[in-house]
Amino acid sequence: MTKLIVYLTHNPSYPILETTDVALIADTLAVQGVTFERWPIPTSITPRMTDTDILSVFEPQTARILKDNGFKTLDVIHLTPDHPQKQALRVKFLQEHTHAEDEVRFFVAGESLFYLRISDKIYGLYAMAGDYIHIPAQTKHWFDMGEHPHFTALRFFNNPEGWVAHYTGDAIAERFPTL
Ligand SMILES: [Fe+2]
Repeated sequence: MTKLIVYLTHNPSYPILETTDVALIADTLAVQGVTFERWPIPTSITPRMTDTDILSVFEPQTARILKDNGFKTLDVIHLTPDHPQKQALRVKFLQEHTHAEDEVRFFVAGESLFYLRISDKIYGLYAMAGDYIHIPAQTKHWFDMGEHPHFTALRFFNNPEGWVAHYTGDAIAERFPTL
């Protein structure tokens, strides 16, 4: 189930908010400039669908997002426990970083964990199928897909080069729970 856990930066042991209330999650993140939405997952979605078919199922929603934000590209990423580079990819995403572009994802299947560092708080979002998140450029964050990654997500990009990270060099991610 989708869950938001909010901590004070200096205290990873005692969350100040823990909720699965979707409206509260959306409101809490919206105050910080982060958009969170739930999109329905049609029963027609299956693990064997092609990327083209997945994109076609969510075309009404993605057309709105592309138009409203002027994103240039949209793709589908799949991570599975048998991915040969799963450990290297996990390490790459799990260090605090920023992007010059917004980070925008929609989870079609599976689960993952985003952490956003905004002023003196850390927002941990356990994202599941049906969750859409739009993180503004320059927001400090990290991402955990777990030891046995399993998710399919749509990614929207402004930058045709795709995912480019700028690491902060801060080891803060090591102090917070992993997926
Ligand atoms: Fe990122």
